[in-house]
Amino acid sequence: MRSGSEIRKTLAEKFDDELRFFKGWIDKPKAVGSIVPTSSVTARRMASVIDVSSGLPVLEVGPGTGVITRAILARGVRPENLYAVEYSADFVCHLRRNYPGVNVIEGDAFNLDATLGAMRGQKFDSVVSGVPLLNFPVPRRVAYLTDLLNRIPEGRPVIQLTYGPKSPVPPGLGDYSVEHFDFVIRNFPPTQLWVYRRGKRN
Ligand SMILES: C[S@@+](CC[C@H](N)C(=O)[O-])C[C@H]1O[C@@H](n2cnc3c(N)ncnc32)[C@H](O)[C@@H]1O
Repeated sequence: MRSGSEIRKTLAEKFDDELRFFKGWIDKPKAVGSIVPTSSVTARRMASVIDVSSGLPVLEVGPGTGVITRAILARGVRPENLYAVEYSADFVCHLRRNYPGVNVIEGDAFNLDATLGAMRGQKFDSVVSGVPLLNFPVPRRVAYLTDLLNRIPEGRPVIQLTYGPKSPVPPGLGDYSVEHFDFVIRNFPPTQLWVYRRGKRN
């Protein structure tokens, strides 16, 4: 059982995350895409697709304040095996301070070759994406997904969260399958999780 001071520390951290996130949303509403961070329930569901035994690193895109980063580490991924690509310099500072050892890379997830630099040829086990795709036109979403799928082995997942009712990357526009993974009510707003893999299945 956790002590009172541990619970107070967790609540203070959560409040700090939420405040920071809200400030991020005020600065860049389209890029941040939500006024509060993802819930820990959603974060754990997203991290559950990772195969830690693959030995490959994991790519997280759009980590924000790091709620999903924390769940990925709790899943058993070593910090040095996690690459987190974030656009906002403020979130990047926060992530580097709070998640030592994680490879936090400041840059654009829509231009990963440049953003990953020397790591551009690296294969990852899977990709966990929190980038608000609905704010981008469909062809850019398809290009984004295609690029992510090129960086993981065939059959491994890209998992994406979204607040819309449909898959943010529509089926039938490329060499990928679309699977509805979960609907998480314990999230504000409730969120849909979608999984994409290489190979046409629908
Ligand atoms: C909806 S928030 C999700 C944050 C966090 N993963 C969560 O679930 O609480 C979207 C995040 O994606 C980041 N982002 C948006 N566009 C991006 C881009 N082109 N490249 C990298 N990160 C981006 C935002 O700065 C923000 O941190």
